[in-house]
Amino acid sequence: MIRSLTPADLPAFHAVMQAAGMDPRSSWSRTTPGDLEAALFAPGAGGFVAVTGEEVSGCVGFRPDGAQTLTLNRLATVPRVRGQGVGTALVRAVEAVAAAGGFERVLLAVSRFNLGVIPFYEGLGYVRSDEPYRFAHSDSPGPAVLVKAISTPPTSPQKALT
Ligand SMILES: CC(C)(COP(=O)(O)OP(=O)(O)OC[C@H]1O[C@@H](n2cnc3c(N)ncnc32)[C@H](O)[C@@H]1OP(=O)(O)O)[C@@H](O)C(=O)NCCC(=O)NCCS
Repeated sequence: MIRSLTPADLPAFHAVMQAAGMDPRSSWSRTTPGDLEAALFAPGAGGFVAVTGEEVSGCVGFRPDGAQTLTLNRLATVPRVRGQGVGTALVRAVEAVAAAGGFERVLLAVSRFNLGVIPFYEGLGYVRSDEPYRFAHSDSPGPAVLVKAISTPPTSPQKALT
């Protein structure tokens, strides 16, 4: 089950990130619960958690960068549930937020220490871009950026046809 993040989920969200097995050189590994709270509850920002049984098994955040771009961040699933579609469901949840909010695209950054995950995102329709990532950490090497266009259905298709 995927549900919206609440402040009470922050410790579990942080624990999933720590269990993800990320390279210790990445800024991900230095993320504190305070950093998470500031980023995930910034204006327009939010997140989702995946719950498997009683356990929070996955997490993802989102944050707008202007009116057209919704950034996706902190996607992780615990190793026990990998390969079961949880990661994909979390990405789709953020894409649904983008579509509902009228954003034109979802943009995400992949750490230089985690480039092996890029095929996962490419499989979901993301493509590499050479643009910068607005929320990059200044103390880490520049990340790889991927984007996906989000199509929002016309609000009134019947009207458009008449
Ligand atoms: C990336 C991650 C979230 C994927 O989670 P998941 O729950 O395994 O995702 P899914 O089950 O939806 O996987 C969908 C597909 O992507 C593939 N995939 C998953 N991780 C992959 C990777 N690192 N490289 C290539 N393919 C990958 C899966 O094998 C699966 O393929 P299939 O549909 O052909 O079986 C998870 O591996 C993870 O937490 N990794 C560590 C944290 C991380 O790198 N986060 C991204 C930060 S940018």
